[in-house]
Amino acid sequence: MDIKQLDVLRNNVNDLDDKILDLLRERAEIVTEIGKQKKSISNIVDYDREQKVLDRILQNTKAKYSKDSIVRIWREIFQASTKLQEIDRPTIDTKRSINLINIYKGGKSSLKGKDNVIKLSSNENSYGPSPKVLEKKNIKEALSNSHRYPNIDGAQLRDKLASVHNINANQIVLGCGSDETLLFAALAFCQDGDEIIHAEHGFEMYSIIAKIVGATSKLIKEDQNYKVTVNSILDQVSPSTKIIYLANPNNPTGTYLARSEINEILNKLPKNIIMVLDGAYAEYVTKEDYDNGFSLVDQFENIILTRTFSKAYGLAGLRLGWCYTSKKVATILNKVKGPFNTQSLSQEMAIIALEDKEYLDQIVKNNQEVKDWFESELKKINIKTNPSEGNFTFVEMTKEEAKNISTHLANMGIIVRELDSYGLPNCLRITVGTKKEMEATIHALKQI
Ligand SMILES: Cc1ncc(COP(=O)(O)O)c(C=O)c1O
Repeated sequence: MDIKQLDVLRNNVNDLDDKILDLLRERAEIVTEIGKQKKSISNIVDYDREQKVLDRILQNTKAKYSKDSIVRIWREIFQASTKLQEIDRPTIDTKRSINLINIYKGGKSSLKGKDNVIKLSSNENSYGPSPKVLEKKNIKEALSNSHRYPNIDGAQLRDKLASVHNINANQIVLGCGSDETLLFAALAFCQDGDEIIHAEHGFEMYSIIAKIVGATSKLIKEDQNYKVTVNSILDQVSPSTKIIYLANPNNPTGTYLARSEINEILNKLPKNIIMVLDGAYAEYVTKEDYDNGFSLVDQFENIILTRTFSKAYGLAGLRLGWCYTSKKVATILNKVKGPFNTQSLSQEMAIIALEDKEYLDQIVKNNQEVKDWFESELKKINIKTNPSEGNFTFVEMTKEEAKNISTHLANMGIIVRELDSYGLPNCLRITVGTKKEMEATIHALKQI
């Protein structure tokens, strides 16, 4: 190290910092003047204008600083400017990206004027949980300690998961639904300006999570069958990428990536990028070339596998999910996790559900059989389906047909998921329920 040379460079940086401070002072004065002009306007913050400023800056920047750094610097300048303009009228302002969030609506669960609906809109398990979960004595026992906080780290449930899946308990982190574990990843690794990669038609929460942490969504293009490919994923990687969220199988399209494809992505991905493999529907997949991914955690420190009790285990109402990752990442996620984020009742019931493997196998078998039958019946009435590996069918038609079918089914008391919020107004997602529910659906469809 050449100390003299270092001193010269540092002095140069000091001079530049002084110039930046001068420029900031000048900017603050102009911003204050603009604030005076805004006196009669109710909303001081103009998000569209800010976005335009940011887009221009990003286009013009020649600095070596990465895109995310530039976004962070300018978001701070926006925030500081707003503070100046609001000095006489304190206002509740959100963090910039929060304003962009469209609240998650989910599938409809009721229909006006209809008491008994068939709900095929949220990919729940129509059969319910294992009968053992519903046994009175089990519920009574699980609730008897409700006056106490739950086990702080869900040790018993984590041990059970570890033994069922042959994995390490200390690398499991529990969440209030797998939704929460997806959020943990972003909270732990992302900040303003970072980029999060997810499928163009991936699970809706990914783009919401990106906005919560101030990150930008980079969308993976899909092929004509709505499948993402190794290259279409890696094409989106940039120096600002922090996380890739990939539902495998994907909701709502039902497509999946094979073991070899996941391996290829992980081998080619820079090791500082976290790959979140969302296995919400993993239990349902029967394809030979699909892998649950647990063994990948031993090879790759940067992978997080998320799983849920909401789907195949039929415990959506108890809000319980978990993730499995390297020791290093698990330690980080545990810092973000609230101490009692999962309830004792949920933990107890999940343990019972895990012990009833026979029931789970039956659910998976039923799903496959009913899905095959339902899709073959749809084919007979010329409704096109995309191969789907989850507990749902993805159908494609015209926008008008999708609206008409959804409305007609709703009139008959059957709720399916319209996909406008996924940018797929020409498609519907229909959860595979019981045979009786799907027979009723086919019967209703034949009446159109
Ligand atoms: C792909 C995917 N991931 C995660 C979730 C969230 O599930 P939960 O929070 O109930 O575990 C869902 C729910 O529909 C989903 O479809």
